[in-house]
Amino acid sequence: MAKRNVVTRRKFLKVAGGAVGVGIAACGGTAYFGTRSPAKVVFPYSTCPSFDDKRLLVTYASKSGATGEIAARITTSLCNSGYAVDLKHFPDVRDISTYSGFVMGSPVYMGRVMGSFVSFIEKFQQGLRSRPSAFFGVGLTMKEDSPENRTEMDTYFAPAIDALQPEKINYFGGRIKMDTLPFLYRVFAKADTEGILTEGDYRDWNAIDNWANQLAEDLI
Ligand SMILES: Cc1cc2nc3c(=O)[nH]c(=O)nc-3n(C[C@H](O)[C@H](O)[C@H](O)COP(=O)(O)O)c2cc1C
Repeated sequence: MAKRNVVTRRKFLKVAGGAVGVGIAACGGTAYFGTRSPAKVVFPYSTCPSFDDKRLLVTYASKSGATGEIAARITTSLCNSGYAVDLKHFPDVRDISTYSGFVMGSPVYMGRVMGSFVSFIEKFQQGLRSRPSAFFGVGLTMKEDSPENRTEMDTYFAPAIDALQPEKINYFGGRIKMDTLPFLYRVFAKADTEGILTEGDYRDWNAIDNWANQLAEDLI
């Protein structure tokens, strides 16, 4: 029987760990700047009106833009279905009191969800808990959609799932695009000799659209 392709946290850590020395040597004391998104990365923001007084918030973390584009696609689908929706990058959300439901997304880097996703949940936990929510995760683990790879993604999202018990969760393949990665991440990706972080777009837009189409019923 063919062995399933499970891209584990350990494999990503091995790739990053092998490159970390190169990164630190390259960045020295300015390593922080090496983790910032390049200026060309767009963090989409939008709002769509509706006669409905119930409004959804789609919010996301992203380093190199792929998750923001998925969040924008989900927002468009919800808007086209007639729902009132705001799309915001996590750091731009100041207040959640006007929303009746939430869709939250984060990519996975080095076996972890992004810090802004965790901070958002910590900051707004009480309000988030009292209303329905959905999560989506993005990572190269989902290059191949298999039960094993979904279980692997579940482990990255487990603390957030425990905290909010979201109505819906889904995971999607991500993208590696060298010129939109922060400098240090690009160093990691280029130093990867295992072929895990090879440039490519593994987002399955049909799967994303299908999920988005069914989403609102569970959130309103
Ligand atoms: C240095 C580096 C480490 C990564 N680590 C993981 C990982 O541990 N697990 C995973 O599934 N994907 C990993 N990825 C893939 C990202 O999750 C993927 O590129 C995602 O689309 C990034 O989203 P963003 O463009 O919104 O930042 C890694 C990518 C890079 C460049």
